[in-house]
Amino acid sequence: DKGNYRHFMAKEIHEQAEVVGRTLAHYVNFAAERVELPVELPFDFKDLKRISISACGTAYLAGLISKYWFERLARIPVEIDVASEFRYREAPLEPGGLSIFVSQSGETADTLASLRYATAEKQHTLSVVNVPTSTMARESNVIAQTLAGVEVGVASTKAFTCQLTVLLSLAIAAGRARGTLSVEDEKELVDALMAVPGQMTEAMKREHQIEILARDLSKAKDVLYLGRGTSYPLAMEGALKLKEISYIHAEGYAAGELKHGPIALIDETMPVIVIAPHDNIFEKTVSNMQEVAARGGRIILITDERGALEAGLDTMATIVMPSVHPIVAPIVNAVPIQLLAYHTAVFMGKDVDQPRNLAKSVTVE
Ligand code: M6R
Repeated sequence: DKGNYRHFMAKEIHEQAEVVGRTLAHYVNFAAERVELPVELPFDFKDLKRISISACGTAYLAGLISKYWFERLARIPVEIDVASEFRYREAPLEPGGLSIFVSQSGETADTLASLRYATAEKQHTLSVVNVPTSTMARESNVIAQTLAGVEVGVASTKAFTCQLTVLLSLAIAAGRARGTLSVEDEKELVDALMAVPGQMTEAMKREHQIEILARDLSKAKDVLYLGRGTSYPLAMEGALKLKEISYIHAEGYAAGELKHGPIALIDETMPVIVIAPHDNIFEKTVSNMQEVAARGGRIILITDERGALEAGLDTMATIVMPSVHPIVAPIVNAVPIQLLAYHTAVFMGKDVDQPRNLAKSVTVE
């Protein structure tokens, strides 16, 4: 049931504050400001030398964001691959290691094959899945469920932000177990997570501005998305969302890679979407933005109030997001990139819930 929405995708974007809140309530003890996992772990994070993660599409990009979290908060090296590569590359895995799989459906053929490979290599397997009765849930040692509810739109939205919520909770739990986070650090991070649903609701208020911008975006042939840190995988997610439902060619790049190739594409017809919350690498992204501006590129900047004040250059548009703790920024900033893709595709008259050539769950390789 679409409720009052035109498309499932719109409904699912708007549900995010609620389902992220629900997922959070499952992983966090609000009163104690502590992560409390709803499952027993058959391993101790403190004994791990590294984590391997595999997934496909949007779930892979959630995994890529979590690499930044596990490495920063728990100081565990993380290797991440798209599952179609992981399953065949015969990665050496030390027995007793941890492999994490991320999947909305829990049925994606390549991710499932990767899970089976890791099982054969004697890894502890933990799957972040949305469907608790799925094959991956059944075959994993640990299920970390996302409570996104049924996701109908082929473009993944609410499953993505719930995956991020679960993965960040796991990274915090890992940091505590490994002694890399103090009680105060954990409180600060849990408070930041608890604020996310409210900030997502606030982010939705940019929808009208984004809807107008989308008309402009719909005329583009190519769109570039740039970001650094966790905004880099989010840039790739923005590009994936746009291409899969609007069929506009889009690419997500690490902002620092601009000079190594993609800058050659920039001219007055090229929209460049820059995701840059005001964090410790903001200045670096701003200098990349100046390079784009100098070549006439049309910048859409997604930032917060402080970032908007300090960017100091002409953009085609600036989407001012609520100020959030930098660690949770990719969860909140997912909202405007989803809305941008959605409204662009709707404006172009595309079937956003059922894009051509795509299936909700890719159960064949
Ligand atoms: O069910 P899964 O999460 O394993 O699916 C993975 C991808 O097929 C999926 O995220 C796909 O990339 C989406 N259509 C992206 O919006």
